[in-house]
Amino acid sequence: MLKSEKKLMKVLKGEKIWPPPLWMMRQAGRFLPEFRKLREQADFLTRCLTPDLAAEITLQPIRRFAFDTAILFSDILILPWAMGQKLQFVEGKGPILHPIHSEEDLKKLHPKQIDEKIEPVLITLQNLNKLLNNGESIGKASPGSVTLMGFTGSPFTVACYMVEGKSSKDFSTVFKMIYQNPDLFDKIIDLLAETTATYLCHQVRAGAEAIMLFDSWAGLLPSTLFQRYVIDPTRQIIDRIRQVYPLVPIIGFPRLAGTQLLTYIERTGLNTVGVDQYNDISFLNRQVSPTVGFQGNLDPLCLLYGGNMLQKEIHRLCHELKNRPHIFNLGHGILPATPIEHVEELVNTVHNLK
Ligand code: CP3
Repeated sequence: MLKSEKKLMKVLKGEKIWPPPLWMMRQAGRFLPEFRKLREQADFLTRCLTPDLAAEITLQPIRRFAFDTAILFSDILILPWAMGQKLQFVEGKGPILHPIHSEEDLKKLHPKQIDEKIEPVLITLQNLNKLLNNGESIGKASPGSVTLMGFTGSPFTVACYMVEGKSSKDFSTVFKMIYQNPDLFDKIIDLLAETTATYLCHQVRAGAEAIMLFDSWAGLLPSTLFQRYVIDPTRQIIDRIRQVYPLVPIIGFPRLAGTQLLTYIERTGLNTVGVDQYNDISFLNRQVSPTVGFQGNLDPLCLLYGGNMLQKEIHRLCHELKNRPHIFNLGHGILPATPIEHVEELVNTVHNLK
């Protein structure tokens, strides 16, 4: 199969495919027993930074479910880590970083060392690209059918973790900085826009066939700040990538953005966007040009609980989006407690859509 025949790549280029290609955010994760097994052997950062381990974890969900995308196993916080910010993943707590609260903290970061630090990630991508395009099948996936997806966080979301130092419901430390010391927050965003663009160009050079920008906390911003901290840095990143790779598909995912998603689509010019489960897909379908592709929207809780509602929602979503480029996905990451059988049922249902 030729590269151009990958279903996901076709949709990213604006084609409508029935049934739609399918993958899941956080598909390489704790709901898989084989992931939990590898998890016992090495800590999170070691898994991200050891090419053989990261490649193996990336491929685990492909073998089982023949998803259309292999998303690089890594994390959005690898970028601040690569600049020298201290990062740990603590069981039950998630990521813990040494927070940036002042100009002095920011000056301690070393953006120049990124290229060297991310080398293992790029080796992982190179190896995965070879494996996915060597004409052999991977588990249930047919040869050459799987698209290799690179990613980063978007500047605002990564800045949230860099400033707060951990996960949070409202990232109140971040908003304190935005309102009391906007110059410092702007500097962090500018630094991230620059380094994210460079990192994504490296990922494409290493073999990522498409890329996704995760802006998981975009929706926390009041509308007055959305332009400055979501749209502007996203545009800057897209422009920088387009100068080097004019054709690489880019998916933007400003999670929780509500109707600001319309502004996002209009002002970033991206032709595929991630949609969370809180957005009304029929409303979006009416409002947005049919050339723009949608990815996502199925509630991860619906997949967790399964049953008739899961069947109903899969059919509703796919039929609603039949007339535009559509990539089947969840509205956010798959939940660790999701039964494997529910994922199997989802995949079979989508593959057999009439
Ligand atoms: O999607 C995939 O399968 C690819 C890998 C991937 C991970 N994180 C692996 C991971 C991707 C694309 C991410 C993105 C990411 N990381 C985001 C954006 C998407 C989103 O979920 O909103 C964010 C905000 C992070 C930051 C992060 N990493 C948090 C808050 C946590 C802790 C929460 C959790 O689920 O444990 C992580 C850890 C993390 N990243 C895990 C995985 C598989 C769990 C680590 C483990 O259990 O070993």
